[in-house]
Order: sequence, then C-alpha cells, then structure tokens
Amino acid sequence: MMEQVICIDGPSGSGKGTIAKFVAEKLGWSILDSGVLYRVLAIATMNHRVDLDNESAITVLAAHLDVQFTFEQEKGSRVILEGEDVTEQLRTEETGNAASKVAYLPDVRQALLQRQQAFLQPPGLVADGRDMGTIVFPNAGLKIFLTASAEERAKRRYKQLKEQRNSVSIATLSKAIKERDERDRSRTIAPLVAAEDAVEIDTTATGIREVVEKVMILVQERFPEALRA
Ligand code: DC
Repeated sequence: MMEQVICIDGPSGSGKGTIAKFVAEKLGWSILDSGVLYRVLAIATMNHRVDLDNESAITVLAAHLDVQFTFEQEKGSRVILEGEDVTEQLRTEETGNAASKVAYLPDVRQALLQRQQAFLQPPGLVADGRDMGTIVFPNAGLKIFLTASAEERAKRRYKQLKEQRNSVSIATLSKAIKERDERDRSRTIAPLVAAEDAVEIDTTATGIREVVEKVMILVQERFPEALRA
C-alpha cells in the first residue's frame, strides 16, 4: 500500500532540510528531520560519557531517548533533551560527526526505527534523511534523492556555520564532509544510497525555488488530492 509520505534523502549539504520544509509547508504535512534524532542521540551519548562506538550502551540510550520538540514564541522551534535545551549544540560540526558515528551502528538504527515511523500522521509526512526511502518508509508515495558536488556542499555548510558564528575553514569542512559521506555510504546497514524508485535531482547549480517546483510537479502526479485539499 502506498503511504502518504514524501522521502527526501541525500548527503549533507544537498539541500534536503530546506526543500523538505518548503514542501511540507505547501502541503500542510508534518515533517521529520531524521538527522536530528541521530544528532540528539550523539549529544546524549557524549553527555553520559559513553564511547561513540559502544553499540549496546548507545542502543539503550536510543530506546529511552527523552527528547521533546517544542515551539517558543520568541525563539522558534527548540529541541529539549532530558530537560535541557540542546538546539544550538545540534548544528555544530562536532555533533554532526558524532551523529554519523552513532548512526553507523546497526542496533542503534533499529532502536530508532519505530520512533521515526511514528511521525507519520494524517494528512501526510515529509521525511528527510539518508534511508527514508530505502528502510524507514519503503512504501512512500514519492521518493526524492538530492545530490550536489562535494565542493558546493562544503560551501553551503561554510555559509551556514558562518551565520551561526562558528569559525572553520572551507578546506577543513570539505575534508570533514568527504569523510562523513564516506562513512554514511560505506556502512553495511542502511547506507546512503538512492532507493531504486527514487527520482534523483542534482542541486549543484539549481536554486531552491526551482528544486521545490520540480518536487511539487511530482507531488501533483503522485498525490493529486493533497494539493486540492
Ligand atoms: O542530516 P544530518 O547532517 O543532520 O545527519 C547527521 C548524521 O546522521 C549523518 O552523518 C548521518 C546520520 N543520519 C543517518 O544515518 N540516517 C538518517 N536518516 C539521518 C541521518
């Protein structure tokens, strides 16, 4: 049975998060940024002083992850882990790299599976990540796989980090992005690959608006009722 889900997968910096947000807003569907779950788990792992390769201990943390997604009038969306606001810490490079390490562990991924699937509520869900179309929502009605050159993705991350006043050089970032991609692609469980039935869109030289337009044409084909509602 086809599910009311749009999966947007791809490597970091391919534009997944931004595109997912625009598409979800247009449709009035909810959104799952699955990377946030791995990032929150990475922070929990470090807070509890557990090593980033301790699969059994991290799996226990994953199964009991006490995380809340709240909205504050002044600050916007916040992520609360064990009562502590971790929103700022979520986006640092340290957290991203640690997230990629905990995401490498098969039992950990399994422990987060149902939590991700529970985000699907009517009228529908836009889910972004690495394995949304292959593992978490294999019956999704639409699967998109976004790509962009490593150079372009490093530039985008650099800009993002600068806005957050994080200082890091393009060269360091570029190297870190390549390492992270390699780890995400080469793991045996749920590697970063396009689902067989995914539509690939290269965003290297394509603006956000154009990519959203392309996706919305596909949405119209696959979910004609969603746009009429
Ligand atoms: O999308 P992101 O940068 O927030 O993801 C952080 C890390 O989490 C990324 O290196 C890989 C991992 N991840 C994953 O393995 N599977 C997902 N569905 C989402 C993220």
